Amino acid sequence: MALLTILRYPDPKLHTVAKPVAAVDARILALIADMLETMYDASGIGLAATQIDVHVRLVVIDTSEDRDQPLVLINPEITWLGDERVKGEEGCLSVPGIYDGVERATQVKVKAMDADGQVRTIEAEGLLAVCIQHELDHLMGKVFVEYLSPLKRNRIKTKLLKALRDDEEED
Ligand code: NI
Repeated sequence: MALLTILRYPDPKLHTVAKPVAAVDARILALIADMLETMYDASGIGLAATQIDVHVRLVVIDTSEDRDQPLVLINPEITWLGDERVKGEEGCLSVPGIYDGVERATQVKVKAMDADGQVRTIEAEGLLAVCIQHELDHLMGKVFVEYLSPLKRNRIKTKLLKALRDDEEED
Protein backbone atom coordinates (compact mmCIF):
# COMPACT_ATOMS: atom_id res chain seq x y z
CA MET A 1 0.00 0.00 0.00
CA ALA A 2 1.08 3.56 -0.50
CA LEU A 3 0.20 7.06 0.57
CA LEU A 4 -1.06 9.13 -2.34
CA THR A 5 -0.53 12.84 -2.96
CA ILE A 6 -3.72 14.85 -2.48
CA LEU A 7 -4.31 17.67 -4.99
CA ARG A 8 -4.75 21.06 -3.41
CA TYR A 9 -7.21 23.76 -4.40
CA PRO A 10 -6.93 25.76 -6.68
CA ASP A 11 -5.28 22.98 -8.74
CA PRO A 12 -7.36 22.94 -11.98
CA LYS A 13 -7.20 19.11 -12.06
CA LEU A 14 -9.73 19.15 -9.18
CA HIS A 15 -12.31 20.33 -11.74
CA THR A 16 -12.03 17.20 -13.89
CA VAL A 17 -15.26 15.23 -14.29
CA ALA A 18 -14.71 11.56 -13.38
CA LYS A 19 -15.63 8.65 -15.64
CA PRO A 20 -17.43 5.50 -14.43
CA VAL A 21 -15.30 2.60 -13.15
CA ALA A 22 -15.45 -0.01 -15.92
CA ALA A 23 -14.59 -3.04 -13.77
CA VAL A 24 -13.58 -3.70 -10.18
CA ASP A 25 -10.23 -5.25 -11.08
CA ALA A 26 -6.94 -5.60 -9.21
CA ARG A 27 -5.93 -2.05 -10.15
CA ILE A 28 -9.13 -0.60 -8.64
CA LEU A 29 -8.79 -2.75 -5.50
CA ALA A 30 -5.23 -1.50 -5.02
CA LEU A 31 -6.43 2.06 -5.56
CA ILE A 32 -9.16 1.60 -2.92
CA ALA A 33 -6.58 0.30 -0.39
CA ASP A 34 -4.26 3.25 -1.09
CA MET A 35 -7.12 5.77 -0.89
CA LEU A 36 -8.26 4.38 2.48
CA GLU A 37 -4.70 4.51 3.81
CA THR A 38 -4.31 8.09 2.53
CA MET A 39 -7.65 9.20 4.03
CA TYR A 40 -6.89 7.71 7.47
CA ASP A 41 -3.35 9.10 7.44
CA ALA A 42 -4.70 12.60 6.71
CA SER A 43 -7.44 12.21 9.39
CA GLY A 44 -10.11 12.82 6.75
CA ILE A 45 -13.66 11.40 6.73
CA GLY A 46 -13.82 11.09 2.95
CA LEU A 47 -11.65 11.05 -0.15
CA ALA A 48 -12.68 11.06 -3.81
CA ALA A 49 -10.42 9.60 -6.53
CA THR A 50 -10.47 13.05 -8.19
CA GLN A 51 -8.48 14.38 -5.23
CA ILE A 52 -5.61 12.02 -5.93
CA ASP A 53 -5.71 12.82 -9.66
CA VAL A 54 -7.42 9.60 -10.75
CA HIS A 55 -10.58 10.54 -12.60
CA VAL A 56 -12.94 7.62 -12.02
CA ARG A 57 -16.17 7.53 -10.00
CA LEU A 58 -14.80 6.13 -6.75
CA VAL A 59 -14.94 7.51 -3.21
CA VAL A 60 -13.98 6.19 0.22
CA ILE A 61 -15.63 7.42 3.40
CA ASP A 62 -15.43 6.71 7.12
CA THR A 63 -17.51 8.89 9.43
CA SER A 64 -17.34 6.45 12.37
CA GLU A 65 -15.90 7.61 15.69
CA ASP A 66 -13.44 4.70 15.89
CA ARG A 67 -12.36 5.04 12.22
CA ASP A 68 -13.07 1.37 11.61
CA GLN A 69 -16.06 1.42 9.26
CA PRO A 70 -14.74 2.14 5.77
CA LEU A 71 -17.36 2.70 3.12
CA VAL A 72 -16.38 2.25 -0.53
CA LEU A 73 -18.67 3.75 -3.17
CA ILE A 74 -18.00 2.79 -6.79
CA ASN A 75 -20.02 4.53 -9.51
CA PRO A 76 -22.23 6.18 -6.87
CA GLU A 77 -25.42 7.98 -7.85
CA ILE A 78 -27.68 9.91 -5.51
CA THR A 79 -31.17 8.51 -6.12
CA TRP A 80 -33.04 10.63 -3.57
CA LEU A 81 -32.43 13.86 -1.65
CA GLY A 82 -34.56 14.79 1.37
CA ASP A 83 -36.30 18.19 1.37
CA GLU A 84 -34.68 19.45 4.54
CA ARG A 85 -31.53 21.57 4.08
CA VAL A 86 -29.13 22.53 6.86
CA LYS A 87 -26.04 24.71 6.70
CA GLY A 88 -23.06 23.03 8.34
CA GLU A 89 -19.34 23.69 8.61
CA GLU A 90 -17.34 21.79 5.97
CA GLY A 91 -13.67 21.23 5.33
CA CYS A 92 -11.77 19.28 2.69
CA LEU A 93 -8.38 17.54 2.48
CA SER A 94 -7.82 19.48 -0.77
CA VAL A 95 -8.50 22.81 0.99
CA PRO A 96 -6.36 22.47 4.13
CA GLY A 97 -7.13 24.66 7.10
CA ILE A 98 -10.31 26.16 5.61
CA TYR A 99 -13.76 25.54 7.08
CA ASP A 100 -16.98 27.24 6.04
CA GLY A 101 -20.74 26.78 5.97
CA VAL A 102 -22.41 24.87 3.13
CA GLU A 103 -26.10 24.09 2.85
CA ARG A 104 -26.82 20.41 2.20
CA ALA A 105 -29.73 17.98 2.29
CA THR A 106 -29.87 16.22 5.67
CA GLN A 107 -30.91 12.88 4.15
CA VAL A 108 -29.86 11.11 0.98
CA LYS A 109 -30.11 7.74 -0.69
CA VAL A 110 -27.13 6.68 -2.77
CA LYS A 111 -26.84 3.68 -5.06
CA ALA A 112 -23.30 2.37 -5.49
CA MET A 113 -21.21 -0.73 -5.98
CA ASP A 114 -18.97 -1.89 -3.13
CA ALA A 115 -15.48 -3.42 -3.39
CA ASP A 116 -17.08 -6.89 -3.79
CA GLY A 117 -18.97 -5.69 -6.85
CA GLN A 118 -22.34 -5.71 -5.05
CA VAL A 119 -24.71 -2.89 -5.96
CA ARG A 120 -26.71 -1.57 -3.02
CA THR A 121 -28.60 1.49 -1.90
CA ILE A 122 -27.46 3.24 1.26
CA GLU A 123 -29.73 5.56 3.22
CA ALA A 124 -27.75 8.20 5.03
CA GLU A 125 -28.42 11.15 7.30
CA GLY A 126 -26.43 13.66 9.32
CA LEU A 127 -22.66 13.71 8.83
CA LEU A 128 -22.63 10.73 6.46
CA ALA A 129 -25.27 12.37 4.23
CA VAL A 130 -23.21 15.56 4.06
CA CYS A 131 -20.01 13.64 3.39
CA ILE A 132 -21.60 11.67 0.53
CA GLN A 133 -22.82 14.89 -1.14
CA HIS A 134 -19.38 16.52 -0.66
CA GLU A 135 -17.50 13.54 -2.14
CA LEU A 136 -19.88 13.10 -5.08
CA ASP A 137 -19.39 16.79 -5.86
CA HIS A 138 -15.65 16.06 -6.20
CA LEU A 139 -16.43 13.45 -8.88
CA MET A 140 -18.23 16.19 -10.82
CA GLY A 141 -15.19 18.45 -10.48
CA LYS A 142 -16.74 20.58 -7.77
CA VAL A 143 -14.94 21.69 -4.60
CA PHE A 144 -17.00 22.94 -1.60
CA VAL A 145 -15.53 26.46 -1.78
CA GLU A 146 -17.51 26.92 -5.00
CA TYR A 147 -20.64 27.23 -2.82
CA LEU A 148 -19.12 30.26 -1.07
CA SER A 149 -19.22 33.87 -2.29
CA PRO A 150 -16.67 34.86 -4.99
CA LEU A 151 -15.05 37.18 -2.44
CA LYS A 152 -14.51 34.36 0.09
CA ARG A 153 -13.39 31.98 -2.64
CA ASN A 154 -10.77 34.43 -3.91
CA ARG A 155 -9.48 34.99 -0.39
CA ILE A 156 -9.12 31.22 0.06
CA LYS A 157 -7.36 30.92 -3.31
CA THR A 158 -4.86 33.65 -2.39
CA LYS A 159 -4.23 32.12 1.03
CA LEU A 160 -3.63 28.61 -0.34
CA LEU A 161 -1.41 29.81 -3.19
CA LYS A 162 0.69 31.74 -0.67
CA ALA A 163 0.93 28.65 1.58
CA LEU A 164 2.04 26.61 -1.43
CA ARG A 165 4.76 29.16 -2.31
CA ASP A 166 5.95 29.22 1.32
CA ASP A 167 6.14 25.40 1.29
CA GLU A 168 8.19 25.47 -1.92
CA GLU A 169 10.60 28.05 -0.52
CA GLU A 170 11.20 25.86 2.54
CA ASP A 171 12.04 22.80 0.44
NI1 NI B 1 -13.29 17.29 -0.15
